[in-house]
Amino acid sequence: MPLLDANDPSAVQAAAAALAAGELLAFPTETVYGLGARADDDAAVQRIYAAKGRPAAHPLIVHAASAEQAQRFASAWPATARSLAQAFWPGPLTLIVPRAPGMAQAAAGGQGSIGLRVPAHPVAQALLRESLSRGVPGVAAPSANRFGRVSATCAAHVVQEFGPDLQVLDGGECPGGIESAIVDCTTAAPALLRPGLLRREQLEAALGLPLRERDAASPRASGSLRSHYAPAATLRLMSAAQLRDALEVLGPQAANLRLAVYSLARLRIGRGIEHRLMPDDPAAAAHELFAVLRAFDARGVQLIWVEQPPDNAEWEGVRDRLSRAAAG
Ligand code: TXA
Ligand code: MG
Repeated sequence: MPLLDANDPSAVQAAAAALAAGELLAFPTETVYGLGARADDDAAVQRIYAAKGRPAAHPLIVHAASAEQAQRFASAWPATARSLAQAFWPGPLTLIVPRAPGMAQAAAGGQGSIGLRVPAHPVAQALLRESLSRGVPGVAAPSANRFGRVSATCAAHVVQEFGPDLQVLDGGECPGGIESAIVDCTTAAPALLRPGLLRREQLEAALGLPLRERDAASPRASGSLRSHYAPAATLRLMSAAQLRDALEVLGPQAANLRLAVYSLARLRIGRGIEHRLMPDDPAAAAHELFAVLRAFDARGVQLIWVEQPPDNAEWEGVRDRLSRAAAG
């Protein structure tokens, strides 16, 4: 059965057995669903690249049951990685560290570094522990979406992306909703490659250091491509005032545009326009963001106008995903 109910312990065992056998399996984490394969099996990992349509040099994150287990993929464990892992693992944080020679070659896209994460989601934890007991040292998993598309935050979205034949361990909706923060710990001054739900100040407090921005020397990350996480419709970011003006200028004409509006502000929305209010709590907004974009797509809208959230650290992860979706 492609859909496995994570509440059923025998389903988790079946899922772990599938991973151990080198099969693909999608599973929930506290951020988004991952499309997993055992990290030590290059042929299994190739199936991820093929299913996603992702270029083979784009490295994948390896998920492990514990920090101790994750470290087996690293050739060095810098003090920065130690501090961050201690503070935030298990949790929504990926650390880039030097890769142990010969480990997870295909998963790392052949790079000398590797992205590691110990997820906190109870289903992911149970799956990783069960897999480990079957000899799987770690599970390589990108977000469970086709290359360039928005991530999947529930099992139905995974099925939308890959069809009904893919095995999915269904653990309900992901609480977080956007992907993990990624910190590059391969250089003395660590860099934030991708913001997430952990705030920059939280990471910096644990490090006792400021985070560098990513730069030309930073390792490649497809999540850091300018255009990524794109819905099918064209997404535009606007201020509340711009939204109000545009809606007023359009008047009843707006109904012909196949337009959706996602705003923090309560706006007067005419007939024929899809409208959702964005929660003013950034965690709640992150939780629903990709599901809202998918729902607009499913309604067949061509344009999505989104109110730009506040420019502060709490909203950094959501703003990052929205600006990439707008560049799509
Ligand atoms: O929350 C998440 O991180 C989810 C869940 C499933 O864990 N995973 C996820 O994977 O978002 P993915 O592949 O969609 O995004 C991971 C990003 C990619 O942009 C990839 O290029 C980058 O991490 N990455 C992985 N390993 C890397 C490495 N060794 N060096 C630089 N970037 C790396
Ligand atoms: Mg992704």
